Order: sequence, then C-alpha cells, then structure tokens
Amino acid sequence: MNETVLKPSVVRVPISLGERSYQIHVGSGLIDEASSFEDLACGQSALIVSNETVAPLYLDRLVATLIKRHRMVHSLVLPDGEAHKHWITLNLVFDKLLQLQCDRKTVLYALGGGVVGDMTGFAAACYMRGVPFVQVPTTLLAQVDSSVGGKTGINHPLGKNMIGAFYQPLRVICDLDTLSTLPPRELSAGLAEVIKYGPIADMAFFDWIEANIDALMARDAATLAFAVKRSCEIKAWVVGQDERESGLRAILNFGHTFGHAIEAGMGYGAWLHGEAVGCGMVMAARLSHALGLVDQAFLSRLESLVQKAGLPVVAPVLDPHDNVGRYMELMRVDKKAEAGAIRFVVIDVPGQARLQAVPDELVAEVIGRSCTES
Ligand code: NAD
Ligand code: GLY
Repeated sequence: MNETVLKPSVVRVPISLGERSYQIHVGSGLIDEASSFEDLACGQSALIVSNETVAPLYLDRLVATLIKRHRMVHSLVLPDGEAHKHWITLNLVFDKLLQLQCDRKTVLYALGGGVVGDMTGFAAACYMRGVPFVQVPTTLLAQVDSSVGGKTGINHPLGKNMIGAFYQPLRVICDLDTLSTLPPRELSAGLAEVIKYGPIADMAFFDWIEANIDALMARDAATLAFAVKRSCEIKAWVVGQDERESGLRAILNFGHTFGHAIEAGMGYGAWLHGEAVGCGMVMAARLSHALGLVDQAFLSRLESLVQKAGLPVVAPVLDPHDNVGRYMELMRVDKKAEAGAIRFVVIDVPGQARLQAVPDELVAEVIGRSCTES
C-alpha cells in the first residue's frame, strides 16, 4: 500500500481476516479520490449499484473517479427502500450483469445505505459464484455497521435478512461528506448502531456518546468522524475474531431480536432498521435487568441516550388480539434461535454481552411493559 498518495485526513481501520483482510477508509471527499480505490482489483468493467435517491446525489462523482480505473463503468439504479430488499430487486442486478456480459473480473460497487450494500454484496457473492465488490456506504448506519464484516442478503416475508451469504468486500470507503444530505430520521437510525457498541463492548465509548450526543445530532464533522472510526474499530475487532458468527459476533445483534420482529411485524420500511434496533436495545436491556444482570441506573442511561438520539423507546403493538404471541412468532424465525428456542443478546455487565435463552414468561413481561411504557 502506498501511504503517500492517501489524503492525510483519511483514517484507515484494518479488518483482519487472513486472505480476506481489508481496510475501511474513513474521511472526507473520498468518493472523488482515485487513491481511495488504489491497489484494488480493476477488471475492465465495473457496475455501480445504487438507488433512486442516492444516485442523483453521488453517482456521477463516483463514475468520474472509477472511469480512471475501469474501461467501462456501468450503473444500475434500484428502487429505494427496505420494502425492495427482496429477491425481485436482487434479480435486477443479475439481469444487468448478464445483459452487459460481465465477466468474473467485473467489480461491483455498492453506493448507498445498508439496503443497497446488503443486496449488492449478495449479488457479488452469487454472480459467477463470486466477483469482487467494494462498499461505498452513504448512510451513518451503513458506515458504522452494515458495510463492514461481510454479511450480505435480502429479506423474506417470513423473516428479516434470512437469505444471504457471508461475503467480504475488498474495501469499505466511508466518505463522511455524504452524511450531510442524510435526512434527520436516517441520522438517528445510524446512531442506534453507534450506541449499540457501548453496552456490548466499550463503556468508555458509551460515555463519549453521552457527552457528545448533541454534537452528533448536529452533525459536527469531527465528532461524526470519531464515531464512525471507533464504531468500525469495534466491529472489526469482533468480526476479526468470529467472521461467521459461531459465537462472539452474535453480540452485534444486541437489540436486533426484538428489532427484527418490529420491522417484520410492522411491514418492512414502516419502522427504519435503526429505529427498531434502538427500541429493541431498550427492550433487551429491560430483559437483562429482569434477569438481574444490570441495574436500573444503566437501564435509565441507555433509554435516555436512545431517546436523545431521536429514536423510539416505546415498542409498537404488532397484533391487538395477541401482541405477545405475534412478537414470539416473529422472533422464533430469528437466526440466533436454536431448535425453536429464541436466544437474546443480554448485557452481562455494561460493556460486555452474551447470548442467552430466556424464559418465555420473562420475555412476555418485557414485551407487555415495552409496548406501554414511555
Ligand atoms: P437504507 O439503505 O434504506 O438507507 C436509508 C435511506 O437513506 C434510503 O432512503 C436511502 O436511499 C437514503 N440515503 C442513503 N444515503 C443517503 C445520503 N447520503 N443522502 C440522502 N439520502 C441517503 O437504510 P440503512 O439504514 O442505511 O441500512 C439498513 C439496512 O442495513 C437494513 O436492511 C439492515 O438489515 C441492514 N443492515 C445490515 C447489516 C450487515 O451487517 N450487513 C448491519 C446492519 C444493518
Ligand atoms: N450487524 C450484525 C453483524 O454484522 O454481525
């Protein structure tokens, strides 16, 4: 790697996965910088996959940068939204790749949020049994979480992210400038995944988020830069130890068991993923409290921070006739479930988490309380 051509403001976070190791670049103006993509595979053709919201903002600029590397730079603009993260949209990527007669050296670039990133990564994993791909995440959530670690996939009506593959990108390019156009609700959704890293791995980071939540909400550049960098470091540390989630990596799903049930139960897209995770973390912390693992003070701090980040803390009623039953039904489809038993990420002590099966009565009690508490 040639250090001298990189802009001095670029921070590089390594993710160590043997021959699948790569760098996460964090900085300003990176999509315009040829050096961001230096040393990567550069087949003759490239396909940038984006969506109808992100493409008008950033596609031309990425094309202008990549045309210096590839002879042909194609693009595909997908419909926007979680509701489109399914088989039919994914197939549009395969249609395009085949129509263009793309070969095994074609590089896919995911330009967008987690939906585009997850689908493009899955397409890259499948096309000709695997072509190289690069993540260019443009939401806070994608920069701090979804673009890192190689989880790719799509939703199924019966379960969130249930069809997919582990497939690592060649690089992740987090251009912080793209966050300036993000709607406020999406910024908050991203903060949910930033907050997540505190209770599961680093309470000093949690303290820092608490102290800087106003600056984060105001999009202060230096504060956002640190939040993205530290989040990527923690995720890289976890994934580096457990790439395919045989154990430790499950802690990254803190709040997600409840959250995925909310997303699926409300209809994909009604609650943003980050909103469901924010509320789900509060529910999972309540569960940890009910198990006697964390105290009320921790619970209150988490709830308050989630609220300050503009995220919901009252869970939605998914079925007025049998709300608990509906939550349970949806949570049994969770990937962490074993032999039909739901397992939750609980906080052992603040800064440390683990997977645990929890008695249904306790879960039911937390759901009941969370759907009414404010
Ligand atoms: P998203 O991809 O739907 O993006 C949110 C919205 O912001 C979209 O409307 C998008 O078009 C728009 N947008 C994106 N960048 C923008 C920009 N710079 N300016 C203006 N608008 C912009 O949602 P997300 O929150 O980025 O990602 C959520 C998805 O990520 C979910 O499907 C979730 O399951 C997945 N996810 C995956 C992982 C993983 O490890 N693979 C981890 C967490 C979440
Ligand atoms: N977002 C959860 C994971 O990457 O494992």
